[in-house]
Amino acid sequence: MILTIAGPPGSGKGTQSPIIKDEYCLCHLATGDMLRAAVAAKTPLGVKAKEAMDKGELVSDDLVVGIIDEAMKKPSCQKGFILDGFPRTVVQAQKLDEMLEKQGAKVDKVLNFAINDAILEERITGRWIHPSSGRTYHTKYAPPKVPGIDDVTGEPLIQRKDDTAAVLKSRLESFHRQTEPVIDYYSKKGMVADLHAEKPPKEVTAEVQTVLSS
Ligand code: AP5
Ligand code: ZN
Ligand code: ZN
Repeated sequence: MILTIAGPPGSGKGTQSPIIKDEYCLCHLATGDMLRAAVAAKTPLGVKAKEAMDKGELVSDDLVVGIIDEAMKKPSCQKGFILDGFPRTVVQAQKLDEMLEKQGAKVDKVLNFAINDAILEERITGRWIHPSSGRTYHTKYAPPKVPGIDDVTGEPLIQRKDDTAAVLKSRLESFHRQTEPVIDYYSKKGMVADLHAEKPPKEVTAEVQTVLSS
């Protein structure tokens, strides 16, 4: 099964993906996570991506398509995968279709995490992350047992550099201008399931399960 999740920053893509992944034995391929790892490791890819990411702009299609192409080929991903935050432009969607077609595969479902922009600033500015595992917390909606500390390892939590109200504005602008057309692209093919991403996490999970079992 090949799924993609489309939704604005803070809509819950990274929160729901690990749950879906475990339930359906899929790989979780998140371009944002891969790019942040490349930036942290100062690889040539990371050096090229950093400036756009810090400003809340999209990284070039070529770079992102390259990392996804590489990741999809991993033997551990042969059962299928969830693409979290990819494709984010119509060009990326077309490239993805081409790459999959070569392998006789296609995207099965596009989960559209629909949510009002007004809710997102609180979600983004309250988010805390355990960098090595990717576990995500929220000061109000998913607080750790001890503030600033990961429940499992006891290690410190961090905030993402782009999780400020100012950078969020530019990330949202990119979403509406460049990524909403991707949802239209897949809608025309009848592949999109609209979800209510403003609901509490468990209710969103239940909606995803309903879509995937129908
Ligand atoms: P990326 O990492 O993909 O960031 P994003 O799309 O802005 O999305 P987020 O990770 O911020 O949000 P999320 O939906 O995962 O929310 P989460 O579940 O964590 O991309 C970062 C950057 O990389 C981009 O700006 C771009 O520069 C570059 N990039 C990435 N992919 C690219 C591509 N394909 N092409 C070009 N450039 C690319 O939840 C957020 C918070 O809310 C958490 O604290 C969580 O606990 C809480 N929460 C989650 N669900 C709920 C709920 N239902 N109710 C209450 N709280 C909730
Ligand atoms: Zn995410
Ligand atoms: Zn819009």
